[in-house]
Amino acid sequence: MTTRKKIALIGAGQIGGILALIATQKELGDLVLVDLPSLEQRVRGKVLDLMALRPHDGYDVEISASGDFAAIAGADLVIVTAGVPRRPGMSREDLLEINLGITREVARQVSRHAPDAFVILTTNPLDAMIYAFHQTSGFPGRQLVGMAGALDSGRFRSFIAMETGLSVQDVSGLVIGGHGPSMIPLTRTATIGGVPIDALLTRSQIDAIVKRTQRAGTEIVELLGNGSAFYSPAAAVMEMAEAYLKDQKRIIPAAARCQGEYGVDGYFIGVPCVIGAGGVERVVEFELTPEERALLDTTIEAVKLTVAKTGT
Ligand code: LAC
Repeated sequence: MTTRKKIALIGAGQIGGILALIATQKELGDLVLVDLPSLEQRVRGKVLDLMALRPHDGYDVEISASGDFAAIAGADLVIVTAGVPRRPGMSREDLLEINLGITREVARQVSRHAPDAFVILTTNPLDAMIYAFHQTSGFPGRQLVGMAGALDSGRFRSFIAMETGLSVQDVSGLVIGGHGPSMIPLTRTATIGGVPIDALLTRSQIDAIVKRTQRAGTEIVELLGNGSAFYSPAAAVMEMAEAYLKDQKRIIPAAARCQGEYGVDGYFIGVPCVIGAGGVERVVEFELTPEERALLDTTIEAVKLTVAKTGT
C-alpha cells in the first residue's frame, strides 16, 4: 500500500498531458488520467510514453489511464481540464453551452467517486464553470477552485520581464477579477526585485502590458489556429496543486468562492487566496483604490451575467 498522494486528471488532452509531465517530474504523486471511453486507447498511449520517461531522471510515480470515473476513487486531488477549447474568433463565453454539460457530468462523477478530493478546474468560461461545478457537486467552497489568476498573473509577470529585459524570477504582480477581457492586472502591486514597476517602465509601456495581459489567451488562440494555451495553464495549475499537496500556504490568485469578501457573495471570482492542505484556506482581502474598485465591480457584473446563462 503506497502512502503517495493520488492525483486524478480528468481530461487527458493538451493541458492534461503537460500536467502529467510536470506532476511526474515533481514526483507529486501517483497519477490516473481519465478521459472518455472512446479516447481511452489514445490516453493509454500517452501514459505508456510517460511511464517510459521516468527512468531518465528516476521519477518514482505510477501513472495509469482509464475511461471510467471509478478509477479516481481515493484521489487526494482532482484536476479537471475536460471540455472544449476555443478556436480563433471565439470568446470563452462561446464555450458555455458545450462545456456546461461536460462540467456538470464531471461534477456528478467526482462527488460520487472522490468526495473528499480537492478540485482544481480549468474549463472555460472558467468563473461560470466552477460555479456550476459547485452547484452540482455540493462541495464546500474551500474544496473547489478555478485556475485563472495564477495563469493571468504569470502572463502579466512574463510581459513585464520581456519589456524590461530583467529576470522573470524577480517579477511579482497580481491579476484579479474574472478570467476574461475584464480581468484586472493590478499595476500597483507589480514589482521587480521589490522595486515598483513605474520606476522601470513608462506609463504607456505599463498600459500596453495591461492590455496584452487581458488578451494573452486570445493572442495564443489566434497564433495556434487550433486550440488554446496549454504549457502555461498546466504550470499554473501545478503551482496550485503543489501548494495544496505540500500544505505550502501560498498566496495565489484563483477563482475562489467569496462569501462577503470584496463585496461578493456566493460567486467564484479571481482573488488572492491562501492554498494549503485545507484547500482554499482563506480569501485574502485588501483595500482597493476607487479606480480598482470600479474595475472590480465591472468584472463581477460580467461574471454574474455569464453565471446567469448557466441557468443555475
Ligand atoms: C487561456 C485559456 C486557457 O487563457 O482560458 O489561455
